[in-house]
Amino acid sequence: MLNPDMLRSRFDPVTGEIAGARAVRRHLSDLRGCFADSQAYEVALAAGNPLIYSVGAVEPADGEGDLHYGLGLLLPGRIGNEYYLTKGHLHAWRPAAEFYFGLTGEGVMLLEDEATGESRIVPLSPNGVVYVPGCTAHRTMNVGTTPLTYLGVYPAKAGHDYSAIAKNSFRCVVIERDGKPAMMKRKDLLK
Ligand code: PA5
Ligand code: MN
Repeated sequence: MLNPDMLRSRFDPVTGEIAGARAVRRHLSDLRGCFADSQAYEVALAAGNPLIYSVGAVEPADGEGDLHYGLGLLLPGRIGNEYYLTKGHLHAWRPAAEFYFGLTGEGVMLLEDEATGESRIVPLSPNGVVYVPGCTAHRTMNVGTTPLTYLGVYPAKAGHDYSAIAKNSFRCVVIERDGKPAMMKRKDLLK
């Protein structure tokens, strides 16, 4: 059945809102443990609790072959040398892959293979598509000076598993070095 309500949505890439969609807003206080420099995090939090990102999710149907999608809006900024970031997750159904389509701003995705720990950073920008394979933890950073917006499309049954990342975090961090994003091992940043 072609229910017109599921066939189209309208989003605003400036506000990150999708008409009628469930929205999650994450502030700095929601990201405790995500930034490697916990001292810089506490200093920033004492000064205020800004919105870091929002995600509007559209879940048209939940069948075996269905897709869900989310519009992310990630603001520019840094905690110490680390760019503002999303919590990051694995999919609860591990084989689920995902496409990210860059809409506005300049971003980077940090991908980490769950089995091997291999880590890579991939640019996320307008006219670019990032493919996140299954069994891969993923986190998004805004490495520019304007809001980053993107669309993530994933199997309806993917689900979001935050627990593994909350426990061990990503092995690598993305920092600003000489005005550019660079990846380094989390443990080396803390030395
Ligand atoms: O489903 C996705 O991968 C995205 O829509 C993310 O949910 C979005 O980038 C926000 O990240 P997180 O879910 O890790 O907070
Ligand atoms: Mn995902």
